[in-house]
Amino acid sequence: MTTWTPASWREKTIRQLPQYKDQQALADVESQLALLPPLVFAGEARQLKSELAKVSRGEAFLLQGGDCAESFSEFHSNHIRDTFMALLQMAVVLTFGGQSPVVKVGRIAGQFAKPRSADDETIDGITLPSYRGDIINDIQFTAESREPNPERMLKAYHQSASTLNLIRAFAQGGLADLHQVHQWNQNFVAESPQSERYQTLADQIDEALAFMSACGINPGNTPHIRETQFYTSHEALLLPYEQALTRRDSLTGDWYDCAAHMLWIGDRTRQLDSAHIEFCRGIKNPLGLKAGPSTDPDDLIRLIDILNPENEAGRLNLIVRMGADNIAEHFPALLQRVKAEGRNVVWSSDPMHGNTIKASTGYKTRSVDAILSEVKDFFAIHKAEGTYAGGVHFEMTGRNVTECIGGAFQISETDLADRYHTHCDPRLNANQALELAFLIADALKSAR
Ligand code: PEP
Ligand code: CO
Repeated sequence: MTTWTPASWREKTIRQLPQYKDQQALADVESQLALLPPLVFAGEARQLKSELAKVSRGEAFLLQGGDCAESFSEFHSNHIRDTFMALLQMAVVLTFGGQSPVVKVGRIAGQFAKPRSADDETIDGITLPSYRGDIINDIQFTAESREPNPERMLKAYHQSASTLNLIRAFAQGGLADLHQVHQWNQNFVAESPQSERYQTLADQIDEALAFMSACGINPGNTPHIRETQFYTSHEALLLPYEQALTRRDSLTGDWYDCAAHMLWIGDRTRQLDSAHIEFCRGIKNPLGLKAGPSTDPDDLIRLIDILNPENEAGRLNLIVRMGADNIAEHFPALLQRVKAEGRNVVWSSDPMHGNTIKASTGYKTRSVDAILSEVKDFFAIHKAEGTYAGGVHFEMTGRNVTECIGGAFQISETDLADRYHTHCDPRLNANQALELAFLIADALKSAR
């Protein structure tokens, strides 16, 4: 293998890279970014890796979730708070269901760049470059808005820094108190049209918390009840940005992409020769790799060996996104192969990206039923193979949007128009996400 440097991806085949017209402006922004402080620290990424190593051994569960695409216009402290709260609420339910710690990783504080199936979009006979996320261009359909602008990387960096600052405060400053998070869950259950479905589990958690208090374990004397660890992640897609934030750790001499704790490689950029694989193989952060219906078992083993040559536990998370109709056909072969070859990975289920459909009203949507069905199959296939279903990966928001159909509040295709705010793919709203957590907790309980 050739020598890796933070820039060696430039020698490889690069896909999904926007065509910046002004190369000097791009270079200027890259040099500015390279001087800005890291957003996360190498030690934190190592901590996440050790927690993911526990997930790979079945001693913990991974919950990864957040926006499909963060945006400049939706940037607001209340949105950050609501998504953070929704993830914590899900985590409490999953901790109880699985009787194991939940590692919380947000698609947040840097999830701006989007891969697109087509380079251009045509509306009413006018063709313009596709929207690629706010870090690259603007969603408005005008020639000026769609022009990739490198200055946007600076804005995305600063928004990520503010977001992360707030998350760190939330995680350590009282908002994460277990009793409070559980109280929000009780409110959710009380208000849900299907409350009887969730009440038993919520009551059991109540009892467990009361028992802990009786034993003298309380927020005053136990930081674990008062605080939480929350990690960030995004797709490592816009490599000029990722390279500029890649720094050498002074303790170990290793390179870390300090734009997020964990980075993942998307389904459209995971080819063996790809620039994205080259970049990610050299950074020491925990990595995700999407695996879809077109992932070939031989290629997967090659990719694993490039990305994790030392077979280190916690380094690599395979994020399976087959679609509810495809998982039974495509997933077992991948799982059996990785198991037979003895590769240490975390397996998680992304039940979003294989289940996107077009509603009759024209909106891109996903149904809660298909999402649940894919997760359940993912668990069942692991059970049959004797392997560990390590986690879930959701596109979700704490806001009360109407982007996915179904759930206890029965969002229908005609409701989609009410609050359809996503800049890219349809997200679960807070209620739908929490419902799924309750249903997955049931599945975890029966898998125990
Ligand atoms: C995503 O996670 O937003 C995404 C684009 O997924 P995939 O690469 O699996 O299509
Ligand atoms: Co998406």
